[in-house]
Amino acid sequence: MNHVHVNGIEVAYQRHGQGTPLVLIHGFPLDHSIWNEVVPLLQATFDVIVPDLRGFGETALGDSPFTMDGLASDIAGLLDQLGLARAAVAGHSMGGYIALAFARNYPTRLSGLGLVATQTLADPPDRKAGRYKSAEEIAANGTGSIVTSMPAKVTPSTRLQEVARQLMLRQRAESMAAALKAMADRPDSTPLLAKLSCPVVVVHGNADEAIPFDRARDIKSAHPAAELVELPGVGHLPMLEAVEATASALKKLA
Ligand code: MLT
Repeated sequence: MNHVHVNGIEVAYQRHGQGTPLVLIHGFPLDHSIWNEVVPLLQATFDVIVPDLRGFGETALGDSPFTMDGLASDIAGLLDQLGLARAAVAGHSMGGYIALAFARNYPTRLSGLGLVATQTLADPPDRKAGRYKSAEEIAANGTGSIVTSMPAKVTPSTRLQEVARQLMLRQRAESMAAALKAMADRPDSTPLLAKLSCPVVVVHGNADEAIPFDRARDIKSAHPAAELVELPGVGHLPMLEAVEATASALKKLA
């Protein structure tokens, strides 16, 4: 991993290939390595930048408030450090919420938006309350509950459930708690879609149990110019469950 100083922390990232800059943002509670299978398929087309978000992988949590806007500011700061004015930004799930915050806060820096197994809607009140409750539970008792329950929800493949479980086991309780609260507090990004003039690619499995495929249809309805790639039988981890289809969808951001 490389490291650069951004917003008071050392952000860890990998960088592969040459071409249009493309940032791949991981979801919750994972790290950059969730993208390991697709990166080799993208590096002939893109300058692929794959960070560990604040609090995850090798990047420290730091003291700044942990919000989707703050995480988007870390991505902008990373691009500054790399001397890149613009980039395509693709996010998986929570990473999509961050990519949407980046689109809202840095529109002139965005050359394309990839939304992988994510949604633009905010949480309804019961989901928000549930996230706050889980954050308290994790802060008090550690990551056991999420590491036990979440893998089965993200993919039907027992092999990939184990990959996800191992990745989740490496993450820290305080970061998971912070991320749950930040996701609960995220705004509805649907109105933003109408303002986007860059290419938008939506990649979503139609067997996703964490964020249903209907949320991808919602994005397409609100932004008909978006390219919607439906992955049959795929769950919440398209970058592991449908590696080639995910990579070829993201290539539309070149
Ligand atoms: C994720 O995969 O990043 C999260 O499950 C997203 C969410 O909980 O909304």
